[in-house]
Amino acid sequence: MIKVLFVCLGNICRSPMAEFVFKDIVNKKGLSDNFFIDSAATSNINEISKEGIYYETKNILKQMNIPFTEHISRQIRKEDYSKFDYILAMEEKNIKNILSIVGDDKDNKVFKLLDFTENPRDIADPWYYGNFDSTYYDIDYGCNKFLEYLLNNNSL
Ligand code: 4NP
Repeated sequence: MIKVLFVCLGNICRSPMAEFVFKDIVNKKGLSDNFFIDSAATSNINEISKEGIYYETKNILKQMNIPFTEHISRQIRKEDYSKFDYILAMEEKNIKNILSIVGDDKDNKVFKLLDFTENPRDIADPWYYGNFDSTYYDIDYGCNKFLEYLLNNNSL
């Protein structure tokens, strides 16, 4: 079982999008039983206000026929570091904030999602930049390449 935690700043736009996109990809390949997939925030702001998935993220998921379930934002916790095998951030500043909560990445588990692609870079925050279509494109690309990486490395 490979345990994957997607992380962004608020856990209402990018990381839940990645959680449900990746769940859909592995489900369609019949690999769901090989994974535990979750998402979390670096900030506690939406955990405090018990925010669900942002409506524009829900709209994209519906548009792409990607199922999603009830989700309430939660902040990443120190114990998530030992619980998960891969902690996949959306952008560089997430990494700094993740490490400030979990400590050193001694087991090399923390990456940016697009590190697994031919074009490693940040996934811009649509909360501030507004383009949910390009967010989806980046996330779908990153999730497919991450699965390809796992398959190529005989992790499954
Ligand atoms: P996300 O976007 O990190 O992709 O979930 C954000 C959503 C909410 C906030 C920040 C980023 N916020 O400050 O509430």
